[in-house]
Amino acid sequence: MSKVNVVFWSQSGNTEAMANAVGAGITEAGAEANVVYVSAASMDELKSAKAFALGCPAMGAEVLEEGEMEPFVTELEGFVSGKTIGLFGSYGWGDGQWMRDWVDRMTAAGARVVGGEGVICQDAPDAVAEESCKLLGRALAAEA
Ligand SMILES: Cc1cc2nc3c(=O)[nH]c(=O)nc-3n(C[C@H](O)[C@H](O)[C@H](O)COP(=O)(O)O)c2cc1C
Repeated sequence: MSKVNVVFWSQSGNTEAMANAVGAGITEAGAEANVVYVSAASMDELKSAKAFALGCPAMGAEVLEEGEMEPFVTELEGFVSGKTIGLFGSYGWGDGQWMRDWVDRMTAAGARVVGGEGVICQDAPDAVAEESCKLLGRALAAEA
């Protein structure tokens, strides 16, 4: 069974709930989901994976969380060329600029972002957002 990593950072649980929904979609599609907080993620596993998901809310002023997620993503940029990545995250009051910038960054590094855009939702995911996350998980499972 193929395994799909879902690596996330979350402060108040909204992006974590999205990560769990992505994991549920992966499992529904018959693959194994490994949903992990960024500090517990294995860079080696991501290096050898064809597809994985990354989640982070909008922080700072429309940026990724700077302590853990930003350096992690910077390291990823060095080896994601040719891989398929699903991006997701929650936001509060903005218009999703942090996610558009993240998509551009991963695309510039040579990755294919599933759907050409990230899955975003305001605050906690509702049923519609959870379904979008599940669909993202299914799409990744099909690529893994
Ligand atoms: C320090 C801080 C900075 C934030 N910056 C933004 C921002 O720039 N744009 C935005 O839309 N929301 C911003 N938010 C709101 C969070 O993105 C929102 O609360 C999100 O649901 C948190 O996700 P989490 O529960 O996974 O931590 C910020 C929240 C905090 C605590």
